Amino acid sequence: MSDTTANASKDISSVLVEERSFPPAAGFAAAARLKAEDLAELHRRAAADPIGYWAELARAELAWRKLFTQALDDSQAPNYRWFADGELNVSYNCLDVHLAEHGHRTAIVFEGEPGDVRRLTYRELHAEVCRFANALKARGIRRGDRVVIYMPLVPEAVVAMQACARIGAIHSVVFGGFSALSLKDRIEDAGARCVITADGGWRGGQVVELKAAADKALADGCPTVETVFVLRRVDGAGIQGAASRAATPMVAGRDVWWHDAVADQPAACEPEWVDAEHPLFLLYTSGSTGRPKGIQHSSAGYLLGAKLTTRWVFDLRHDDVFWCTADVGWITGHSYVAYGPLAAGATLVMYEGAPTFPDGGRFWQLCERHGVTVFYTAPTAIRALMKLGDAVPALHDLSKIRLLGSVGEPINPEAWMWYHRVIGGGRCPIVDTWWQTETGAIMIAPVPGVTTTKPGSCTQPLPGIFADIVDDEGASVTKPDAGGYLVIRRPWPSMLRTIWGDNERYLQTYWSKFQNRFYVAGDGAHRDADGCYWIMGRIDDVLNVAGHRLGTMEIESALVAHPRIAEAAVVGRPHEIKGEAVCAFVVCRGERPTGDAAAALTRELRDWVAEQLGAIAKPEDIRYADNLPKTRSGKIMRRLLRSVARGEAITQDISTLENPAIIDQLRG
Ligand code: PRX
Repeated sequence: MSDTTANASKDISSVLVEERSFPPAAGFAAAARLKAEDLAELHRRAAADPIGYWAELARAELAWRKLFTQALDDSQAPNYRWFADGELNVSYNCLDVHLAEHGHRTAIVFEGEPGDVRRLTYRELHAEVCRFANALKARGIRRGDRVVIYMPLVPEAVVAMQACARIGAIHSVVFGGFSALSLKDRIEDAGARCVITADGGWRGGQVVELKAAADKALADGCPTVETVFVLRRVDGAGIQGAASRAATPMVAGRDVWWHDAVADQPAACEPEWVDAEHPLFLLYTSGSTGRPKGIQHSSAGYLLGAKLTTRWVFDLRHDDVFWCTADVGWITGHSYVAYGPLAAGATLVMYEGAPTFPDGGRFWQLCERHGVTVFYTAPTAIRALMKLGDAVPALHDLSKIRLLGSVGEPINPEAWMWYHRVIGGGRCPIVDTWWQTETGAIMIAPVPGVTTTKPGSCTQPLPGIFADIVDDEGASVTKPDAGGYLVIRRPWPSMLRTIWGDNERYLQTYWSKFQNRFYVAGDGAHRDADGCYWIMGRIDDVLNVAGHRLGTMEIESALVAHPRIAEAAVVGRPHEIKGEAVCAFVVCRGERPTGDAAAALTRELRDWVAEQLGAIAKPEDIRYADNLPKTRSGKIMRRLLRSVARGEAITQDISTLENPAIIDQLRG
């Protein structure tokens, strides 16, 4: 156990006092999909018969090829299995089920960063998915094969995911901002047979060279990869300054252009019927060790969670235009771009580029242009756009927006209020949704027509989710505002099934702390007198930078891989926009650099980390010391480093430090 975890419950004390509250407007409540009595009934049914409740929803919401006979198999707990003897296909449930009645309706409205717009109806999306599914099959990809997707946020990313689902291949999307090395690690861990990428994507006016990174990843290693599909994106029609097609070298026998691969494929593809528990995807996420873990999700349980929460939390109706700004490289882009909204038959917006390109009004311009009614983004984006002032959004007509959402990190009340007042015009409920890569779907969130919201609280668990806050002994913390570990007491269908290739780590990470009694989320939280949850952040060695999870150990491993670095410790410190920033303390081999030499090494190390892991992991600060502060047993005193990074007074006992003078060095 790390010293952070050991000290966690001491650290979890409630400091926030927020007294404003916002009941839903009468008009919103009257028209809402879920009314107060519906929600109460769902809670009642879930409490009375938690397993029967999910079984009933699974029967009603999913189209089964073969209906299951047993809802929950807990014989291997905590490796739970849901609806295990049922058969279905996820892509069929997202596309085919809508064709007869709603095939003409828009599934995806896409805008590229250069301004190119495309619309796909459900019928067109279905055809694209079938063609690409056939292309995958033509290259020998079958049920159970792993396919890594490394693409820009364009419709084809969703097509690729859905096509994998259609043929029973297991996709693993790697965010386009991750480096070639990170991509290689994930391809190798998953044992992927195929990689789907693009010549590039647009981000902040620049081309992100995805194919080049994929080539680098595949150059030495990844022996399992036989096929690389390459979407032509950056030299598309009318796009200025793009790399030419000739600039994308193709490896004979391995690489295939997407458009060539689908050219002769039929627009129909019989779905591969799979077991409910068949893995739909792996998604790598950071934990408290040096290696990211492949979170494995199921087919039926996952889809049920994604579909229900899309409807309950976002109140979606057929005339809504739903925009979740997340990239498909993250879980949010899986559940609320690629799967949930499609299963719910909604219209979704996808935008390829940066929120500030060409200026900070881009999000609001998109909302106006595409008539967005439900908008879901991350606090880091809200804070960055808030900083630009109220005049920027005021240039755009945001009157169609009726509901706002937030995800990924705690939203500070100031940003909540700005979002409410300036973007929501004071009329829109805000759903602050707490969940994780592991939970598959939203767990704790307001139901917008019912729940009274409070800035900074994700309010209450959804029906069927038995969340709790417990102390070090696992006893429920009942005193209002007292902190503890956030846990989930009962299994739920969209929960992760295991960590790919490492079930031991699954058991250890999520279950061992309280002897398998409940799922341990890794977050600290407290609950107020109204039963509302307030998430206080990670209590393990995981940082949350701009809504992205980064393991401190991963960044430390990257730093010590540099020839000049002997030792490194990484902690987080609060950051105005990103929520948390990466702060690294390093010990060099040889002399401790100062002045210009230190500045030069800092630049080099930041680039090094970007190359090893991806730009999002670049340390904001790097401080050099002759030693790192350690306990008698040799553990790095992270709490002390956190205080130093924050510029706080040191309250910890430092009498055991060998060389107290290093504190001054660490302060930088
Ligand atoms: O610490 C919590 C924070 O994000 C972590 C999960 O990160 P990830 O798996 O990358 O998924 C992010 C998108 C679902 C959680 O352990 N987190 C997520 N949502 C919230 C949050 N913290 C506070 N409030 C939220 N609404």
